[in-house]
This record gives sequence, structure tokens and C-alpha cells, in this order.
Amino acid sequence: MKRTDINSQFRWDEAQNATVWSAGRKYIDFTSGIFAANLGHNNDAVLDAVLDAICKTGPHSYSYGLPSRDEYLKRLCAWSGFEHAHLFTTGSEAVEAAMRVAWIVGYGADDFYGLPGSFHGKTWGPDKILLRFNDACDFHQKDVAVVEGYRGWDCHFWEPEVIESVRCAGLIIADEVQSGFGRTGKKFAFEHYKDLEPDMVVTGKGQGNGWPVSAVLARGRCAEVLRDNADEFSSTHGGNPVACAAGLAVVDEFEQEHFWSNANINAMILQSGLQQSPYPVNGKGMVAAVLMPDAKTADRVVLKCRAKGLLVVHTGKASVKIGPPLTIPGKELAEGLEILMGVLCATAA
Ligand SMILES: Cc1ncc(COP(=O)(O)O)c(C=O)c1O
Repeated sequence: MKRTDINSQFRWDEAQNATVWSAGRKYIDFTSGIFAANLGHNNDAVLDAVLDAICKTGPHSYSYGLPSRDEYLKRLCAWSGFEHAHLFTTGSEAVEAAMRVAWIVGYGADDFYGLPGSFHGKTWGPDKILLRFNDACDFHQKDVAVVEGYRGWDCHFWEPEVIESVRCAGLIIADEVQSGFGRTGKKFAFEHYKDLEPDMVVTGKGQGNGWPVSAVLARGRCAEVLRDNADEFSSTHGGNPVACAAGLAVVDEFEQEHFWSNANINAMILQSGLQQSPYPVNGKGMVAAVLMPDAKTADRVVLKCRAKGLLVVHTGKASVKIGPPLTIPGKELAEGLEILMGVLCATAA
């Protein structure tokens, strides 16, 4: 079934941390609104910052200076360890921008390759160019490798030999739109791979805890291109006051030690609970995919979970994805796991 068919009947009325209310009923959310609300829906700190920005400046300051943008860019670079950051609004827009940077560096339109089965967005660049998968995973100096932190639909983390080949590409773009901001137990998923040093990292989703903010983080010659061509990469909503307020509040939260330790406990509970699944499971940190025999069975699992009060991610493929907010309370995590395991065991029986 298409996502629109399976999800459009479900009304999203209210949401708080890992709880969603729909038509008077309470649901445990194992989706984070599709990997966006890593810090929980309507996180207090993010909400306060956003409301403050709305009241002070409103949503626009296109082409004017903004103290909160300066502060956010500085803190985002310090937190991520990248030299330079440029802000956009959606993940697809930021992937397109990273491709343009690579093009200015000197790569041609035919030099971009993704890894088999990846997803990088629905605009022209990601759709038509990155989907030229390098099926043999054989990269060369003339190539730009675009690497999803893990393959989205089945949460497959790349084998060491694939990463070894990616390292041979002339330029590496890590797409961390879904996998960044703590989702896999690290700031970025590329940190799970030995000696992988992307030239650019594309972020979105959890970066604003669901508020539309994305970025290209860059080092070396890519950072130079972005710095020297800042005007060429501006966009009306990129780096607006509300986005900067949300992004800054997210970085504030991620800088707190206790947040990471709580998130790690949740990750251990989630991954060890999923070991009981009758179907194979891929995953790390607070993301996982249960591999189903086919897409129809996966659809049924999504609907059965929902009937029992649990939201899981419908992929349209032979998998069911799990991605609760990192901040989910232990009680809801345990309850959600119990519902999921009950549905999976009944489906497998
Ligand atoms: C890995 C990855 N890249 C890019 C995108 C596109 O982001 P957006 O939907 O914000 O354009 C997504 C969205 O799901 C994604 O998962």
C-alpha cells in the first residue's frame, strides 16, 4: 500500500514527547514524526525558543544579518566539528546544494554515485543523479560518493569493504538527514565507520526537532566554496529566525551529558527488546528495521500495531521501521515494545 493510503486516515491531533493523540485516543509514537522529533514532540526548550523568535522578529530576515543565526552557525560548527555550515530548509534542498558545491569544486553531472537502494530526497538532483547506484561499490578518484548513514528502508549499515571503496572517491557527501542528531547513538552515523571523513555532511529532520531547518556542513575546499559563494547558496527561508532558534535549542540539548546517557539507556532497551523478534532486525541506537517477508505483511504489521495503540514507520517495502524519540520515557518504550513483539509473533505464527 502507498504511504498516503495507509496513513492519511490517521488524524494527528496532538503530540507531546512520544505520545500522539488521535480522535480522542492515545498512541505511543515509534516514528518521531518520521525521524524528525528526536527530542520528542513539542520539546519544551525548542518550543520556548521558537515562540520567542516568532514574537521577536517573526519568521523572516532574508538577506539581513541575524545575531541568532551567527550564534547558531558558530555552535553548530563547534558541535559537529565541521569548519563551515550553510543553512537550508529541507533535506532535499541541502542535498542539492551539496551537489552544487561538488560541481563548483570541479565534478561533472555524471560523477555522482549513491550506494545501492539509498534515498536522498525527491527533487531532481537526488532523484535523477544520485540514484545512479554504484552497485559494485567500486569508487574512483573521479567520483563523488553520496553515502546515506544507513540505507533508509532496511536500516542496513554499510559493510567495511563498501566504506573502504567509498574512501577512494574524490569527494564524499554523507547524507545524515535521517541518521544525524543522535539517531544511531552518535552525533552522526558516519562515525560508526572506520576512517570515514566526509567532505560534506547534509543534515535536516532532527536538526530542528521537526522545525524545517537543514544544512550542509563542510570542510576544506567545500567549506571554501560555500564561504566564497554564500550569495549563490542563499534561499528565502534558509537560516530564518525561527529555524535558527529551533536549531540552537537542539544543539543546547545535545550538548548536555545527561541527555546522551539517558538516550543510550533507551537505545540499549530498544535494541535488546528487538532481539526477541521472530523476524531479522537491523539497527543501532534508536533506529531499527524489522525485515518482513514482503511489503504486504509489513503493511499489515503497521496497521495491527496502530490498532493496538502503537505508531511504527510504514516504508512501502518489506520492512517495518522503528524510530522513537530519543527522549521516550522508559514505561512507554517498554509498552511499545510489548505491543510490537505481540504483533510480530502473531504475524509469524
Ligand atoms: C536520507 C535522506 N536524505 C534526504 C531526505 C530528504 O529530506 P526532505 O524530505 O526534508 O527533503 C530524506 C527524507 O526522508 C532522507 O531520509
